[in-house]
Amino acid sequence: MTYKGHFRIWRGDEEGGSLEDFEVEVNEGEVVLDIIHRLQATQAPDLAVRWNCKAGKCGSCSAEVNGRPRLLCMTRMSIFSADEIITVTPMRAFSVIKDLVPDVSYNYTKAREVTSFTPPEGLGPGEYRMQQEDVERSQEFRKCIECFLCQDTCHVVRDHEENKSAFAGPRFLMRAAELEMHPLDAADRRDDAQDEHGLGMCNITKCCTEVCPEGIKITDNALIPMKERVAGRRYDPVVWLGNKLFKR
Ligand code: SF4
Ligand code: F3S
Ligand code: FES
Repeated sequence: MTYKGHFRIWRGDEEGGSLEDFEVEVNEGEVVLDIIHRLQATQAPDLAVRWNCKAGKCGSCSAEVNGRPRLLCMTRMSIFSADEIITVTPMRAFSVIKDLVPDVSYNYTKAREVTSFTPPEGLGPGEYRMQQEDVERSQEFRKCIECFLCQDTCHVVRDHEENKSAFAGPRFLMRAAELEMHPLDAADRRDDAQDEHGLGMCNITKCCTEVCPEGIKITDNALIPMKERVAGRRYDPVVWLGNKLFKR
């Protein structure tokens, strides 16, 4: 089936912008990114959009479709009705470079603030041994394609630019949790997670988990276990006494 679809696309830059209406041909089997490409080819050659793989694996084409954070290349046109107006806007939690292209540098800043993998001293490459369940836990987190849809969704920063300096966001709290639970990571990440990366600002609403295109259980498998570890360390009287006695 081929039809004329109604699209409302945000055009502009960091100075400001507005929604523009377009009518674009839609064919069976297409995704929203196909429509954006057709729009570029036929009506708006200067429309900016970031993409690379068109296979849901590079994490570049993140945007909001009818207000919901999504990958443009994995959003099928068949989920919308033919007479619906489809609004495509850039991710709201970040400033805009041009049109649908956001400035995601906040995420790279936060990535650099997480201490890298720290194996025990003296352990050489070939000497790493892990239980299968530890491997599987890491593998779930390693599916992340860094699309930053979870970062865009989390209410702590979505409309609160002022929280960004204190909050790393679900993607990077998950990274801290992954390394904290890694049997070969010797760094203690609990104080950093709480004091530097803002773990306490997460109130486990799970919106990040809902939008993750990789289906990673960010809240249940990373953020909540990390909160439990921080709480155990800080508020368990036995742990507290041990810390006092042995000055850990
Ligand atoms: Fe994207 Fe999921 Fe990674 Fe967040 S955790 S950046 S939503 S793939
Ligand atoms: Fe935000 Fe996810 Fe926590 S949406 S509040 S990081 S559970
Ligand atoms: Fe790579 Fe959409 S273009 S995830």
